[in-house]
Amino acid sequence: MNKNYIIRPEMQQDFRTVENLCRESFWNVYQPGCTEHYVLHHLRNHPDFIPELDFVMQVDDVIMGQIVFCRAEILSDDGRHIPILTFGPIGIAPEFKRKGYGLTLLNYALHEARKMGFGAVCMEGNIDFYGKAGFVLASSKGIHYHGEDRSDPVPYFLCLELQEGYFEGIEGVYHTPKPYFIAQENPQDFENFDKGFPPKEKLRLPGQIF
Ligand SMILES: CC(C)(COP(=O)(O)OP(=O)(O)OC[C@H]1O[C@@H](n2cnc3c(N)ncnc32)[C@H](O)[C@@H]1OP(=O)(O)O)[C@@H](O)C(=O)NCCC(=O)NCCS
Repeated sequence: MNKNYIIRPEMQQDFRTVENLCRESFWNVYQPGCTEHYVLHHLRNHPDFIPELDFVMQVDDVIMGQIVFCRAEILSDDGRHIPILTFGPIGIAPEFKRKGYGLTLLNYALHEARKMGFGAVCMEGNIDFYGKAGFVLASSKGIHYHGEDRSDPVPYFLCLELQEGYFEGIEGVYHTPKPYFIAQENPQDFENFDKGFPPKEKLRLPGQIF
């Protein structure tokens, strides 16, 4: 890992570069092509988006990493709405992957979120990566994934308490915030948006989940 990296807030003039970086990092990873750059494009204008937690990472003046956060909630079984965060997309440019940058960027952003007073984060992801930042299976904290059987823990649904004990005494359900479904809800607009980026080949690859 090059020690000359910096992490800084994303600025408006970065938007297109960062959307392209996001597209490059997700391309063909979870499905042929990807939609995360379109999600990012719309998320920034959503009222639940948190501009203070919108970061880019640079090495030698090249933006090669990005992360954004969004407000979410747990609907507690006793009827309370417990405010939490979720995050994503988080992306590292292909040539910089698996060198420690993603974990460094994630830990930095989580530290900033903790300083801002947020209590916890829930998200869908791979425990092999997020476990290194302290994430655990959300079911172990009594937090369940919408539409899934509570007795059958969802291995990709993870959480992290930013304030110790934040989920103590809480049992409830998490729903992925609506802005994350924007591409499925607007397939034609998504296709038009994606055409504005450099052509890339969509491939069906092993390990994809959609
Ligand atoms: C996922 C991503 C952000 C991780 O960033 P990264 O810089 O590549 O990861 P790091 O080098 O910081 O990883 C640290 C450790 O986490 C684990 N890890 C990272 N990516 C992993 C993966 N895809 N699968 C399993 N373990 C992984 C490894 O143990 C790794 O250490 P190692 O490389 O020495 O084995 C990046 O690979 C990426 O942009 N991927 C495509 C987009 C994506 O999947 N985003 C997340 C969606 S939930």
